[in-house]
Amino acid sequence: MTKRVAIFASGGGSNMRALVADMTAAADHPAQPAVVLSNNADAGCIAWAKGQGIATVVVDHRPYGGDRAAFEAAMMQGLAPHAPDIICLAGFMRKLTAGFTDAWAGRMINIHPSLLPKYKGLHTHARALEAGDAHHGCTVHEVTAALDDGPILGQAQIDVAPGDTAATLAARVLVLEHRLYPAVLRRFAAGDRTPINLQG
Ligand code: GRF
Repeated sequence: MTKRVAIFASGGGSNMRALVADMTAAADHPAQPAVVLSNNADAGCIAWAKGQGIATVVVDHRPYGGDRAAFEAAMMQGLAPHAPDIICLAGFMRKLTAGFTDAWAGRMINIHPSLLPKYKGLHTHARALEAGDAHHGCTVHEVTAALDDGPILGQAQIDVAPGDTAATLAARVLVLEHRLYPAVLRRFAAGDRTPINLQG
């Protein structure tokens, strides 16, 4: 049975597009896009998904204030009719509680723009530069309660070049994200958790 994938995004959703493109390009893909969920009604990911005829759900986090559990309950309610088997976080900028991550344990994955376990959280490219790292990249991992943690399913690496800025690094890593995330999802949906390693 093809796995139904919910993609969570907050912005333009270039990783979402890469995932959808890969799932829809091949008839034998073990997964299909079921729904795109965002906390931001104006996000580019929502407009794009609508244009593709993919179901969308918007749950604005702001009315919930600090009540993350209530926000997540609303997301679960929005997701239910789409019956997802897997959640892919793709630039979804809300922290999730253990209640949500536990409910989706082993079924939710995330892409993060660093070579985890280095640089969890934000500003990863600037932090890699400040540290003088020779290599940088991105990681796809299973989502657990701890931020940007969980078993690693794949990494893609580039060399940091003299003259790189946070912006040039971000752009080069993003190109790799678009290769890595679809490759990992394809394996993960087929039940294979063997890590993938790519070089940029
Ligand atoms: C990506 O760098 C992703 O790794 C990070 O947020 C960014 C989202 O970009 N979590 P996009 O919305 O997929 O273009």
